[in-house]
Amino acid sequence: MKYQFPKEFWWGTACSAPQSEGAADREGKKQNILDYWYEIESNRFFEGVGPDDTSDFYDRYKEDIALMKKLSHNSYRLSVSWSRLIPNGIGEINPKAVEFYNNVINTMIAEGVTPFVNLYHFDMPMELQKQGGFENREFVEWFANYADTCFKLFGDRVKYWFTYNEPIVMPEGGYLYDFFYPNVVDSKRSFQVAYNIVISHLKAVEKFRAGGYPGKIGIILNLSPVYPRSQSVADLKAARMMDLFVNRSFLDPILKGEYPIELCQILADRGLTPVVCQGDAELMKRCKIDIVGLNYYQPRRAKLRENAVNSDAPFMPDHLYDHYEMPGRTMNPYRGWEIYPRGIYDMLIDIRDNYGNIECFISENGMGVENEERFKVDGVIQDDYRIEFIRTHLEFVHKAHSEGCNVVGYHLWTFFDCWSWMNAYKNRYGFVEIDRKNGKKRVIKKSGWWFKELIDKSGFY
Ligand code: BG6
Repeated sequence: MKYQFPKEFWWGTACSAPQSEGAADREGKKQNILDYWYEIESNRFFEGVGPDDTSDFYDRYKEDIALMKKLSHNSYRLSVSWSRLIPNGIGEINPKAVEFYNNVINTMIAEGVTPFVNLYHFDMPMELQKQGGFENREFVEWFANYADTCFKLFGDRVKYWFTYNEPIVMPEGGYLYDFFYPNVVDSKRSFQVAYNIVISHLKAVEKFRAGGYPGKIGIILNLSPVYPRSQSVADLKAARMMDLFVNRSFLDPILKGEYPIELCQILADRGLTPVVCQGDAELMKRCKIDIVGLNYYQPRRAKLRENAVNSDAPFMPDHLYDHYEMPGRTMNPYRGWEIYPRGIYDMLIDIRDNYGNIECFISENGMGVENEERFKVDGVIQDDYRIEFIRTHLEFVHKAHSEGCNVVGYHLWTFFDCWSWMNAYKNRYGFVEIDRKNGKKRVIKKSGWWFKELIDKSGFY
């Protein structure tokens, strides 16, 4: 075997509650921001498909978990829907939701699929959003109490907990660049949101430690190694700036217990420093995690800005750099993301060398492709491009592992085709097709079988 992985390596996939469960307004669940956004602006969702029309995991979890077992997966990351478990965000617990998550967790364990449970995947309960959501400092307590409720209800069986998936998406998408609800465009508010999320994560970790729950707790971060256009001082500086905002802004407070001084200075110079509370700095130093999940899809490339910033424009991080499109780069044209497998290695080396080689795993990696039906032969999608994508990335994961990186697993995004926010069903990511024309029938793609063989052999040639 040319690429042999340890026997105990985690192999599986990830998805989230809002993208897979469906049953958006059934059995006690109340609206989250996605449900609400769709209600008021369905035009922003691809072909008008909304969060009520997903993979129906709520009703079909038994069939799906059986399929995971069939494909030899030993782990799966799901998320808890906060607005299903605690419909108002705070207060009463929905017994139907407890029953559902208990059933899912128990079924997974019975099938030998270890549950990795994430608490927040972009789905703020609407009742909390109405009270300011992340912008309200009380949010940190709301989140910590919700996390503690989950630990109490499911912590006897769940051994891998994650507070957030890709926390940067909320300040970036929801408060800066208008690709997520509540579509605010305001850097000061965005930085406050980012800060409050970090504090809420720390408070949840504190609850986990205080409760003495067994298992590990971490967070899932989407990282993109940043490459400069050239070695010129100006391009290097642009890359450093981009790196500070897209990677270090969450990595450093969470893994090192403090923000990069340079980042603090940039915000201070512009009067954008978030409001902090007494005790926050100590909390940051104190509440360390056990494991970090790393989502890797694409690298980022930076160059010196080519055009001056309009002096009337309020500050945005990308005033400090320009995106660089490297000639000859390989692209996933459907998603508009560069494919650069070496980036996964550089990311892992960064964690090894600059973050104490903390235990980590690839928590998402994957390739969304439009109109996959055209690749069907005898009813099965022949997704050789996905196999190639995974294989080339895994070669670099293997290299990093053999060079001492503490990487313990690989999860693909995602198990089955799912609803993807504004892109809805445009790009398909799954090992398993959801045939929407045939009652959402589950059909294993070629890559699903290929990955099963890889798991069975703990590696590939
Ligand atoms: C990650 C998210 O950013 O990428 C997922 O954690 C998301 O929720 C995935 O679906 C793929 O991105 P997209 O936008 O194509 O769905």
